[in-house]
Amino acid sequence: MSKARKIAVIGGDGTGPEVADEGVKVLQAVAKLEKLQFELTHLDWGGDRLLKTGAALPDDGLDQLRKFDAILLGAVGHPDVAPGILERKLLLDLRFGLDQYINLRPVKLFPGVETPLRDKGVNDIDFIVVRENTEDLYCGAGGFMHKGTPHEVATQMAIYTRRGCERCIRWAFELTRKRNNPKGKKLTLVAKTNVLTIGHDLWWRTFKEVAAEYPDVQTDYNHVDACCMWIVKNPEFYDVIVTTNMFGDIITDLSGIIQGGMGVAAGGNINPEGVSMFEPMGGSAPKYTGTGKINPIAAINAVSMLLDQLGEAKAAKRVMDAIMKVTGTKMKSQAAGKMGYTTSQVGDLVCEAL
Ligand code: IPM
Ligand code: MN
Repeated sequence: MSKARKIAVIGGDGTGPEVADEGVKVLQAVAKLEKLQFELTHLDWGGDRLLKTGAALPDDGLDQLRKFDAILLGAVGHPDVAPGILERKLLLDLRFGLDQYINLRPVKLFPGVETPLRDKGVNDIDFIVVRENTEDLYCGAGGFMHKGTPHEVATQMAIYTRRGCERCIRWAFELTRKRNNPKGKKLTLVAKTNVLTIGHDLWWRTFKEVAAEYPDVQTDYNHVDACCMWIVKNPEFYDVIVTTNMFGDIITDLSGIIQGGMGVAAGGNINPEGVSMFEPMGGSAPKYTGTGKINPIAAINAVSMLLDQLGEAKAAKRVMDAIMKVTGTKMKSQAAGKMGYTTSQVGDLVCEAL
C-alpha cells in the first residue's frame, strides 16, 4: 500500500456537490482496484456558507488547502449571490493564492459523444489547451474614477510578467514533448500580437526563446480570432495550445462545446510544485440541483486528471478508459436530463466499467 494522499473535496454550489460525489465514488473505486489510499476531507465552502456566515470560506482557507495533495472542486455560482463574488473568493483567490499557474484543459471527443461539428470524429478532436492562470485581465488591477457620473472612467489592466509567461510556456513545451503525439509534436501559441503589441510581444519573444530549447517540438502561432475559426473548421490541426488567461478562458468554452459540451469538459488548475485543483468546467447549473439530471462525466474526467497529476498514470488511464466505455456503449446523450441514466447511475456505470 502506498501512503494515503489527502484530497480536499469542495462540492461548492448548485449541482457541484452532486457531481463531486460521483467523482469521489469513482476515485474510491479505482483506489480499491489499484491499491491506492486516499483520505478525503469534505469542505462546505461556497454560496450557502457565505449566506449563512458571511464568508464563503474560513479566513485560513488557503492555509488549510496547502496541507492537501490535491483538491477536487464541484462548481462555483449561487443564484442568491451577486455574480463575481464567489468566482473571486472561491475560484480566483484559490488559483492565485495557491499559485496554480497552469489551467490545463484537454479537449477530447469521447466515443459515442455527439459533437456539433459535422464530419469530425474522435480522431479529429483531441488536443490540450494550456491556459496561463495567474495574470492578464484576471489580476483585478485597475479602478474607477468619478463612478456613477457621466465622466466615469474605468480601467482594467492586463498584466503580464516575463516569469509568468515563461513558466507557462515552458510547461507547455514539456507537456507537448511528454504527450508525444504520433501525428507530430506541435505547440501553437495563441495570442493577438497584431493589436496587443506590448503584452503579447512579451509572450511572442518568450515563446521564440523557449522554443529554441525544444528543437523536437514544431511550433506554430495563431491570432486568437483565427484560432476560433480553426478550432471549428480544423480541430485536427491542434496538438497543444498555449495561451493567455483571458483568451484561454474563451477558447476553452468553444473547445468544450466541440468535445460534447459542459457535461464532459474538465480542467486542472495546476501548480507543478504545489497543490493543484481539478474541476468540471460546467458551472453550478442551479436549476438542476437535486434532480439527478446533471452529467457527472466532467467531474469524473477531472478525477482522472487529478490522478495523473499525483503520478498515478495507470489509475488515471483506467478511469479514462472506463469513461470512454460508458460514453461509447451506455449513455444516450451527454446533455443534462437526456443521458438515459441519473447522475448517480452514470457514476455507478463508470465504477462497473473500471
Ligand atoms: C473558468 C470560469 C472562470 C474563469 C470564472 C468562473 C471566474 O469561466 O474556469 O473558465 O473565468 O476562469
Ligand atoms: Mn471559463
